Amino acid sequence: MAGNSRGVLWHLPDLVEIVEREMLRNGFQKVKDFATFPLRAITLFYEDRWGLSSLATERFDYVRREVRGYCLDVGCGPNNRFINSYMDGNGKGIDVFPYDGLTEENIVTDMLHLPFEDSSFDSVTFIANLNHVPRSLRDGELAEAYRCLRPGGNIVVTMGSPIAEILVHKVVGAYDRLFGTRYDVDTERGMSEEEEYFLTSAEIVERLARAGFKKITHKKFLSQWGLNGMFIGWKP
Ligand SMILES: C[S@@+](CC[C@H](N)C(=O)[O-])C[C@H]1O[C@@H](n2cnc3c(N)ncnc32)[C@H](O)[C@@H]1O
Repeated sequence: MAGNSRGVLWHLPDLVEIVEREMLRNGFQKVKDFATFPLRAITLFYEDRWGLSSLATERFDYVRREVRGYCLDVGCGPNNRFINSYMDGNGKGIDVFPYDGLTEENIVTDMLHLPFEDSSFDSVTFIANLNHVPRSLRDGELAEAYRCLRPGGNIVVTMGSPIAEILVHKVVGAYDRLFGTRYDVDTERGMSEEEEYFLTSAEIVERLARAGFKKITHKKFLSQWGLNGMFIGWKP
């Protein structure tokens, strides 16, 4: 425990939570990240270093700015990082695979029947993962996202350009083999034949529209030179 100037006691876990919370990037950081993108693309996958943002920090930062409130993060990956660190815990992260840092409540093996009430989230995010949803499940999972979203809520789907997605997957795999790291979470889980390295913009827009989303827009990530971006759709 520690105290503040008014003598009110803070609990240590509260302080730890504050320290771990990620700050959104400021303008100077974005300029540095823009200028160093090629270096970051081959070295900084999940952890920030040298005063530069990793690719994960960057996508979480861009998505966080679009989220409207209580958020469902589908395919959250290890440590449920987006919800825990970028949403201050305001939401739920779910995944099919029991990665490090996930608990039973994060694991949903049947993504076609999500354990949530209708209209229970303000936003649903699919961050770097719609291409990892097996092809035959994609429409069903987007329909579930639509059901769980409140009217007026939004969905955010990030997807890199084909070249960027293939290159990053290959580079991350090679990096792990070379340095013994475990950044390639898709190889750790084991990719199925119905997953892909990337999805085209046309496929994403078609699937979002089929699920019922309207006013779909595409925003590119400037500090990744437009090679990554996000699709945003709204539930009327
Ligand atoms: C490249 S990782 C992205 C993880 C995290 N969202 C991020 O941005 O770092 C792809 C994720 O999709 C998840 N995934 C695999 N099959 C899925 C499915 N059917 N539905 C939802 N997510 C799935 C994987 O377990 C993995 O966590």
